[in-house]
Amino acid sequence: MKKKDVMDKGKLIVFEGLDGSGKGTQINLLVEEMKRQGRTVYQTAEPTNSVTGGILRDALGGFTDRNAYEMSAMFLLDRIFHNSNKINGIKQFIDKGIDVVCDRYYYSSFAYQGIDADLQWVMDMNLHCKEILKPDLCIFLDIDSKSSDERIAKNRLEREIYEEKEMQERIRKRFFEVLEFLKETENIKIVDASRSVAEVSADIIKIYNEFKGDC
Ligand code: TMP
Repeated sequence: MKKKDVMDKGKLIVFEGLDGSGKGTQINLLVEEMKRQGRTVYQTAEPTNSVTGGILRDALGGFTDRNAYEMSAMFLLDRIFHNSNKINGIKQFIDKGIDVVCDRYYYSSFAYQGIDADLQWVMDMNLHCKEILKPDLCIFLDIDSKSSDERIAKNRLEREIYEEKEMQERIRKRFFEVLEFLKETENIKIVDASRSVAEVSADIIKIYNEFKGDC
């Protein structure tokens, strides 16, 4: 591939973190800044609005009982659809030079499903699937499980299946193990998200500007 072709492609930027880590707010602020800098950006999230995404939402809400292997497989299916579908698949935006900012991606499958399902299996399915793009940048918003619990309590009427404090503690531990394992092969930045919205946003924009400089 010619250098120009690579440069003309959009970038895939993914946000990860515990429930209540402020991803939504920080994604909005970064997207605003990227647009201010003249980029065209497509903002998206997982699970998607696909049929599988609906089944996942049902399970996340506790309306149906699914084991970790079923959840992993459905998140994988949803992610393949998210990348490849012809209407708003991530790949077509990237190919057109449009940047994509996504709220959660395969790192969430590793941290959430990788507790009760075999982690290696979950990682292999996602990392070895040619239909799933590798992110150019992953920003992990770190808060502890106590803050996550407080923010969930403040913002939700009902808790989803993973939104209990003890579970968030295990998920955070898993996130760190996985991010440490992937740090040589993926571009991962960890941000202390326990600070004010403005402080966290300033850090993220700095990371983005450095990332852009390296592209
Ligand atoms: P959110 O829309 O509030 O981020 O909720 C999505 C939930 O789905 C959240 O609890 C994390 C969970 N999830 C997984 O368990 N595995 C995954 O692969 C993804 C993308 C999300």
